[in-house]
Amino acid sequence: NEGKLWGGRFAGGPAPELEALSRSTHFDWRLTPYDLAGSHAHANVLRAAGLLSDSDAAELHRGLDALGERYAAGTLLPDPSDEDVHGALERLLLEEVGPEIGGRLRAGRSRNDQVATLFKAFLRDHAAAVAGQVLDLVDALATQARGHLAPEAPSIMPGRTHLQHAQPVLLAHHLLAHAWPLLRDVDRLRDWDARVAAESPYGSGALAGSSLGLDPEAVAAELGFTGSSANSIDGTAARDFVAEFAFVTAMIGVDVSRLAEEVILWSTREFDFVTLHDSWSTGSSIMPQKKNPDIAELARGKAGRLIGNLSGVMATLKALPLAYNRDLQEDKEPVFDSVDTLEVLLPAFTGMVATLTFNVERMAELAPQGFSLATDVAEWLVREGVPFRVAHEVAGACVRRCEELGVELHELSDEQFAQISPHLTPGVRDVLTAEGSVASRNGRGGTSPDRVGEQLVELTTVVASH
Ligand code: ARG
Repeated sequence: NEGKLWGGRFAGGPAPELEALSRSTHFDWRLTPYDLAGSHAHANVLRAAGLLSDSDAAELHRGLDALGERYAAGTLLPDPSDEDVHGALERLLLEEVGPEIGGRLRAGRSRNDQVATLFKAFLRDHAAAVAGQVLDLVDALATQARGHLAPEAPSIMPGRTHLQHAQPVLLAHHLLAHAWPLLRDVDRLRDWDARVAAESPYGSGALAGSSLGLDPEAVAAELGFTGSSANSIDGTAARDFVAEFAFVTAMIGVDVSRLAEEVILWSTREFDFVTLHDSWSTGSSIMPQKKNPDIAELARGKAGRLIGNLSGVMATLKALPLAYNRDLQEDKEPVFDSVDTLEVLLPAFTGMVATLTFNVERMAELAPQGFSLATDVAEWLVREGVPFRVAHEVAGACVRRCEELGVELHELSDEQFAQISPHLTPGVRDVLTAEGSVASRNGRGGTSPDRVGEQLVELTTVVASH
């Protein structure tokens, strides 16, 4: 059992099949910098508790630094006999500083409190990185929105419900409707971080805490946490921080996939709303004419993968008794994958959004079609004093008449309007343009150019506060 973390009570080494099953270094090696930081902090509390001499502590810090440098240089590698990153680093530390000094570091800690803490620290760093990338995407959406909010001619598009033409909206309004949920995702990451930061499990030991007088709060502070676990069993067993992180990353994937789906639709010949930049789209190996929205499709597909990672974590956690169980080793790969997925997806997706060219003429032409101004007729009648129930009927009758004649609402003559209802005087024409329609929706949150301008300022202020 040379080099193992246990051995005293075992007569023989583990079977190779067990080692193969047990090994996690191929995925947990990336926790190395966090493990080393934890060890530095642990050496400090051991020394503070009088369990390490100053010179032994200094030698441990030197050895840990040496391992850190080798890791950064890419030359620190686990051995096939190492079970996990924690065991491997202890073996390597012993090689570095000798068994006499190196063997003192494990006092009062367990891989159970180590891994819970290091995993949190790792995810906190990546939550910050992902939040930054989501903010870049929000920024790209805001920039596109700003570019389509020219005071003379803000771009108008068909707004949809049920994918059917509903009411005209500003393109900027629509784009910002994708930005706000992404901002909430950034808030979710921040909220998550504050909750996770409050509880460093280091010092929880295997499950019951330590008898050696070590100070968990000091370790927490050194590792950038705001507090330590109030309950050592909870500290080592809880993984709701993993599940919540997996949820927020899945939510980001889902939010991005909604825009992805629209970009895919908009770039079809039938919609023809957007042109993808050549550098942010792909061709076909056989069809020379093809220009494909691969980034958007990959975004749509990867949302499924992120949801799968969340489901996997939840399934692992379900019904696990307290405290640490080896099942928990399964908590890492799904969220490592979620992090890797988003960190490669988001920059590509942002590039695609930033370089989209909108076919604003076509969008504007389609905006008033499909009787999307029928609500404007009804609301105009309401402003003329007609009860909405009646107004709705009258506007519906206008649509029926248009369908019979094969025309749009604004193409009805004054006489035809008057025949449908005496309330429909020529003044109704004021609202029978997409411009008039959007201008009239001027309550807070509405699609009028002034309101969308305010909204953009509001969004930018929120972004700046992050
Ligand atoms: N590698 C384990 C994990 O990722 C931590 C080791 C705890 N193992 C143990 N036998 N207590 O969860």
